[in-house]
Order: sequence, then C-alpha cells, then structure tokens
Amino acid sequence: MVVEPRVKDFICTTAHPVGCAANVKNQIEYVKSKGKAEGPKKVLVIGASTGYGLASRISVAYGYGADTLGVMFEKESNGRRTASAGFYNTRAFEEQAHKDGLYAKSINGDAFSVEIKEQVINTIKEDLGKVDMIVYSLAAPRRTMPDGTRYTSVLKTVGEEYTNKTLVLKDNTITEAHMSSATEEEINATIKVMGGEDWIDWMKALNDAGVLADKVITVAYSYIGPKITFPIYAEGSIGQAKKDLYKSCDIINERWSQIKAKVAINKALVTQSSAAIPIVPLYITLLYKVMKDKGLHEGCIEQMQRLFMDKILDDSQVDENGFVRMDDWEMRDDVQSVVAERWDTVSNDNVKEIADIDGYWEDFYNMFGFKIDGVDYSADVDIM
Ligand code: NAI
Repeated sequence: MVVEPRVKDFICTTAHPVGCAANVKNQIEYVKSKGKAEGPKKVLVIGASTGYGLASRISVAYGYGADTLGVMFEKESNGRRTASAGFYNTRAFEEQAHKDGLYAKSINGDAFSVEIKEQVINTIKEDLGKVDMIVYSLAAPRRTMPDGTRYTSVLKTVGEEYTNKTLVLKDNTITEAHMSSATEEEINATIKVMGGEDWIDWMKALNDAGVLADKVITVAYSYIGPKITFPIYAEGSIGQAKKDLYKSCDIINERWSQIKAKVAINKALVTQSSAAIPIVPLYITLLYKVMKDKGLHEGCIEQMQRLFMDKILDDSQVDENGFVRMDDWEMRDDVQSVVAERWDTVSNDNVKEIADIDGYWEDFYNMFGFKIDGVDYSADVDIM
C-alpha cells in the first residue's frame, strides 16, 4: 500500500514504516558520528519508542555500546491501518541493533501495570542478569491502577484561567487559546499519571527482584521553560506532576543507597506529547527560529547524545537543584530575550518570517516517518 500522512489536529493517524526506519537510521548515524564513551552496558528504557525515550535508547546503544530492553505502548498494524510510528521505530531499531551485534528486545504493553513490570524483570533475569541504567521517559495520557481505577491527566492551569496566543496547526494562523483551570481532582489525576509514583514503583520492583547492578543510575525527564509557558507548563497541572517527579527522585535517592536518581530538564521539542499542549507549539516555532539562526538548535537525538555522553555520568554537571540542564542553550538570555520580544509582536502578518513554521512541520512529519530524504513515498510498502 502507498502510505500517506493523515493529519488530524495535532496528531498524524498514519505512519510510514520505511520512513520511520530511515529516521531511526539517521539517529543511529548521528550518535555513531559522535564517538563512544565508557558507560552503562545494560539499560532499561521505559517509554523507548518515540521522542526522548527512543533517542535515549539509541544514544546508550551506540554511545556506550549498551544492550537495551525497551518498554512502550504502541499499536500494531491490523493490515488495513498502519502501525503507530513507535511500533515501526522499535522494530527498525531492533533490526539494526541486532545487525550491529547489540542485544535489543522490547516489551509492548502498559508500563504502569504489574504484569509488564513482571515481564520486564523476567526478561532481565533471563537475558541480562542485571541492569545498570534505567531511563524513565513515559509521556502518557492515562494510568490504570491495579484495582482498575483510571486516572486521566489534563493540560490545564492551576488557579487562574489563562489566555494567550497560540498557533493553529491546521492553517498556521495565530489565534488566542484559552486554558481553563484544573480542579483538585484533575490535578491529582495528572500527578498520578505524570508524577513520580510509577517511577518509584519501577525502582522498587527492580530492586526487590534483585535485578539492579551494585551501582545503578536512573534518569527521568522534565521541562521548565520560560515565563510565557509557566501558566500552562511549570505552574500548570503538568508542572504539579513534574514537582511530584522531583520529590520522587529524592525519595529514590534516600531509600536506596546504590541507586543514583537524576532528573534531566530537556529542551522543548516537537514530539507526539508536546504537540498536544496548547500555546507550546507557538513557543516552539519561535524558539526553533532563534536557535537555528544562532546555530544552537538540537533535536531529540542531539539532546540525548549530549546528555548521555557529556553530562549524566558526571555528578558535577547539575544545577543548584540537582537537575541536569539540557535546556541550557534554550534558556540562554540571548535566546530567551529574542523569543520574548517576538512573542509580543507575532501575528498573522509576520508569523512566517519570525517563527520556524516549516521546521515545526518538518519535525512533525518526520516523527511519523514522512518527508524524510531518500524515502520513496510513491512506492508500495508492507505496513505489517
Ligand atoms: P513521546 O510521546 O514521544 O514518548 C512517550 C513514550 O512513552 C513512548 O515510547 C510511548 O510508547 C510510551 N508510553 C506512553 N504510555 C505508555 C504506557 N502506558 N506504557 C508504556 N509506554 C508508554 O513523549 P516525549 O516528549 O519524548 O516525552 C518523554 C518525557 O520527556 C516526558 O516525561 C516529557 O514530559 C519529557 N519532556 C518532553 C519535552 C518535549 O518538549 N517533548 C521537553 C522536556 C521533557
């Protein structure tokens, strides 16, 4: 079948298997081109199929030469619809890793569940013995508890409602987005889904099962960003969940002396999760333009290659809160001052000049395996 992108709001409902494989290959080539470093050799990546998790997996596999076990929640093809991008990415990664002599296995299922934790533990016991690094890179809309209770996360403000400019992705126009404020119940549900409780559960389950190496590092990801995005991100419902993640990091460090837990604050980038947040896509297009003009732009793979090769193993590379700052270039004064100025002046008349709309869409399509150089999109492909 010839696969074409079908974009609906902020998501593409199709994915191109050959394009996804090319995307993974490009990321692998990038990491290889940067050289190797001594580091963990058996890595579990939770949320390994897209965005920052996939880039983490590729960085540790090709940067440290690590065996990787990935966990993700992705859809297979039913023969009529394509599989999700994360499914094709994972398959392509595994195939390439095997060719390159690296162990790579993936478990497709709900990372919040006890069953998947058990499956992961059994796989580690059978194949790897122990793991020495755990990357926690879940971005999930909901979480089902063992008793069946379901929590759904929301992207809302806390306290005051908020109105600001936003980019309408379907026609690239600027309009106003209104964000309502979350109820107490919604905030708590968002914390349940995107906070750190499940990260602690994972570390406890792995530790109790005896599958952690004597010295083990675990890292989870967060975002802080500039003032413009505070009401929707850092101070919004998702920000409350991230505060819970920071507390969970401390709890892991206090509870298990052999585990070193860290939080990395990453750069704002187009991923399936960030595209869903109102206002953020406009900020990203303005940011991309400034960072590209200054030669500072990075995508997920550049961010994660730099994290794992240069920062995560060096305990001195943290800020006053103990965070590893991968948003160091994004938050530079000379970047943020231009973004803030342009935020005030951006309108339908100038958006194409001062915002990197094309760059946004390029990343967006690439995420689903489209518009990648060298891929013949007119060719029939097997979507299974
Ligand atoms: P993403 O949507 O690209 O990746 C999410 C991953 O989680 C996928 O592998 C998906 O299969 C997996 N997943 C989702 N629900 C699951 C479940 N129930 N069980 C198993 N796997 C599941 O998201 P992205 O953007 O890479 O986010 C990863 C982390 O990075 C999140 O913590 C996010 O807050 C953080 N982050 C993202 C930034 C951005 O701009 N995209 C910036 C800074 C931090």
